[in-house]
Amino acid sequence: MISIKTERELEIMRKACKITAAARALAGEMVRPGVTTGEIDKAVHDFIVSQGAKPSFLNYQGYPGSACISVNEVVIHGIPGKRELKEGDIVSVDVGACYQGFHGDCAATFACGNISPEAQRLINVTKQSFFEGIRFARQGYRVSDISHAVQAYVEANGFSVVRAFVGHGVGEHLHEEPSVPNYGAPGKGPRLVKNMTLAVEPMVNMGTYEVRVLRDGWTTVTADGKLAAHYENSILITDGEAEILTVPEGL
Ligand code: MF3
Ligand code: CO
Repeated sequence: MISIKTERELEIMRKACKITAAARALAGEMVRPGVTTGEIDKAVHDFIVSQGAKPSFLNYQGYPGSACISVNEVVIHGIPGKRELKEGDIVSVDVGACYQGFHGDCAATFACGNISPEAQRLINVTKQSFFEGIRFARQGYRVSDISHAVQAYVEANGFSVVRAFVGHGVGEHLHEEPSVPNYGAPGKGPRLVKNMTLAVEPMVNMGTYEVRVLRDGWTTVTADGKLAAHYENSILITDGEAEILTVPEGL
């Protein structure tokens, strides 16, 4: 069942998503050589709590952090800790916050100091693929119209989309129906309806799309060891263009 949010629920989700987006921005500003991923995680945690919200990821299926911090070949679910960032790293930060019972979920990849032009292109293409996808996040289209647009843009730029993890509905639960893959033929899956809320999150690899989960059960790396990037926003389906909910403005 895909939940359709009421106006009252959407007001709460807007607030949850603003907190989440501000936490992502705060984390991005901390990315620099010498900082540890654990320090960023602590700042994200303390900020979310200071806003009267709860970190959605903390203890989710046993996850030990408030943020996922995924460096270089780590695609998603990097566990924060003692690792020090260094010049040239690319750092994906994924955060979620739960406010008055509703979740926001968003992610972005940040450059640590000077990075290679190809790494910067990976970050740019990943972010743009989200915007290409949500051109189809409109009432009347189907979920896989988003998926197809993301994949087409990424592959036209010579990169690949991860298959093993997908976007999702978001709301009272961090993960709701429907699944929102970043690949596939158009015209499939549920039809999009006003007041659905989705987390659209392309994960893009520089090399092949295969990934592997490390023995900690979380850390997901590219199978070929090449770089990966991630970009995610929680969005609202409307009468017209999708509304991006995870924007920090007005918090
Ligand atoms: N944005 C990710 C997702 O939607 C983050 C989940 S991390 C977890 O799946 F720790 F909460 F699992
Ligand atoms: Co998500």
